[in-house]
Amino acid sequence: MNHSTRPEVYHQIISLREQVEYHNHRYYILDDPEIPDRDFDFMLGELESLELAHPEYATSNSPTNKVGALPSRGFGTVIHATPMKSLGNAFSEREIQDFDRRVRELVGSDNPVDYIAEPKFDGLAVSLCYEKGWLVQAATRGDGTQGENITQNMRIVLKDMTLIQGNAVPAKLEVRGEVIMLRKDFDALNEAQRQSGQKLFANPRNAAAGSLRQLDPAITASRPLRIFCYALGDVSGNHEFKTHADSLEWIRSSGLPVSDQIETVQGAEGCLGYYHKMLKNRDNYPFEMDGVVYKVANLDWQEQLGFTAKAPRWAIAYKFPAQEVTTRVEAIDIQVGRTGAITPVARLIPVFVGGVTVSNATLHNRNEIRRLDIRVGDSVIVRRAGDVIPEIVSVIQSRRPDNTVEYAFPEQCPVCNSRIVYQGEEVIARCSGGLYCHAQKVQSIIHFVSRKAMDIDGMGKKIVEQLVSEGQVNTVADLYRLDVGTLSSMEGKAEKSANNLVEAIDNSRTTTLARFIYALGIPQVGETTAETLAETFADLDFLMDAGEAQLVEVPDIGPVVSGNIVAFFGQPHNQEVIHDLLEQGINWPREELVSETSGEFSTSMESNPFRGKTVVLTGTLSITRDQAKSMLKQAGAKVIGSVSKRTDYVIAGEQVGSKAAKARSLEVPLLDEAQFLEMLGEHELTSQ
Ligand code: IVH
Repeated sequence: MNHSTRPEVYHQIISLREQVEYHNHRYYILDDPEIPDRDFDFMLGELESLELAHPEYATSNSPTNKVGALPSRGFGTVIHATPMKSLGNAFSEREIQDFDRRVRELVGSDNPVDYIAEPKFDGLAVSLCYEKGWLVQAATRGDGTQGENITQNMRIVLKDMTLIQGNAVPAKLEVRGEVIMLRKDFDALNEAQRQSGQKLFANPRNAAAGSLRQLDPAITASRPLRIFCYALGDVSGNHEFKTHADSLEWIRSSGLPVSDQIETVQGAEGCLGYYHKMLKNRDNYPFEMDGVVYKVANLDWQEQLGFTAKAPRWAIAYKFPAQEVTTRVEAIDIQVGRTGAITPVARLIPVFVGGVTVSNATLHNRNEIRRLDIRVGDSVIVRRAGDVIPEIVSVIQSRRPDNTVEYAFPEQCPVCNSRIVYQGEEVIARCSGGLYCHAQKVQSIIHFVSRKAMDIDGMGKKIVEQLVSEGQVNTVADLYRLDVGTLSSMEGKAEKSANNLVEAIDNSRTTTLARFIYALGIPQVGETTAETLAETFADLDFLMDAGEAQLVEVPDIGPVVSGNIVAFFGQPHNQEVIHDLLEQGINWPREELVSETSGEFSTSMESNPFRGKTVVLTGTLSITRDQAKSMLKQAGAKVIGSVSKRTDYVIAGEQVGSKAAKARSLEVPLLDEAQFLEMLGEHELTSQ
């Protein structure tokens, strides 16, 4: 034996034990793990294999021989009648095949073994003891031998399930299960925590554990916790079940929740099939699973197989790929959006998590940076669950290198040096440079040409960057002055593609009012709002003239957006660019004044009182809005949704509101339904 290596291995073992103890404490006692579960599993696995290879250093009090952690002070202690053991973990198909082979060998079966396949709920294990049907004690797993007395809190979670249903209730009964928090409840809880400036939970498991292990039951009562039961513990009397499935069925019939995702499968093959099915649907379940569990179905065989020091030989957990991993922050960059919004972004050493490679994660705003206390060089936990964008959950403080410095949020825009101003309780930062800022200019042009806006095919980010940098394009109107010569002289642009681009620019001249409004990039005016505005005002001039009071009357537009719209059109620079764009031939089909008029009416259009008039409908008419609208359109009127001084008539039905009042104040003629129909009737008479 090489003596010089021994002390090194010894120190490695001691160091790993210390780390495992530390992380056990954070996970089980503080409900505040510092590293992802998977990192912990690997650390423990490493310690186990070192102890196996060097039995001279193995001791009975190594954390490899323990389950969980001792109960924490504060709760009373409960001794489990039968120990609450852990489960062995598998991370590969091979390990499942090995498990199945071991089981078959030990029970001496040549045929495929039946297993009960269950979700592995990611929560907190509890034991529930009932006497004569009543809950008398509930406990956490603790170190497997003794747990914490959480009876009071579990009564809150169990509600009416503190009394077992049915006739054949054993005098004494222990049910085991997992307390969890649904994903949607976790999101809502974290949002509430964020709003009230309290600590966020890293994931639903921590939220569930932290909510249940509360000394103040009022806190537990305020948290939405649930339980899934997955096994019987100690049961008195002659409740003879043949299979684990029978016992689950009995638990279900007693009124306690059992997952309906549980199946009986055959052999390793059946186990693997179940794993892939559950993994594929992982994100569709309302709760988090960190894998699946297989249990030998036959209870006699379970007894025959028995337990190792830590776990049953008749069950194993097959873990899903990690949704939380660790990586390092290489830089914190600032991105400037088209409206000047400043977003800090963490550049990460790329990691594979939740099915994708992640190399950037948004840090949202400076509050988030403060909350995380994230620094360049930090080790962080990145989480990606479902199709949610990856996020940094926490910084691993104990792994912070010595020389890190607190991140200082910039006071000036890193692109144009303009001052950064703060809005929304000083959380949202904006570059005050407006279109003077290169970044804002480029982003706003990219938005203007994008598919849902002016849809200029072939005008990508790179070319916009280049055109702006070279001074060819300063405002979006300049795009319409570009020619093939200029474009083909650009880096990497062949003449053919320059031709195509000019054609695409040209085609974009004819658009719709909604697209044009959206393309302008007014803060918080997305496609839907742009469509509503186009429909309501029908004419760009009307929209540009609208005041805030008029805008807030438009459905789904509140004071913030109307303020943004008024501010946008109030800026002389924006007015100039819009004017320039119209000069460049941007056009859209105007609300047709006469084209919808059918042939029979067209002869006497001259005499029609509504021809060319702008009309607003309000209140309830005896005919439908759509009918009134189409009658007016046929008569050559433009029907819009908002009253201004340019409105010619307001037609008011029953139960009118602010629009009629507005008409009165602006001295716009108000017509009631009878007057309206009379005017139309005259027209119809004269037109026939
Ligand atoms: S059976 C003796 N079934 O996983 C076997 N455990 O890593 C006892 N868990 O402590 C456990 N879902 O907290 C079992 N369907 C399931 C489970 C499950 C989640 C938890 C439980 C256990 C831990 C072991």
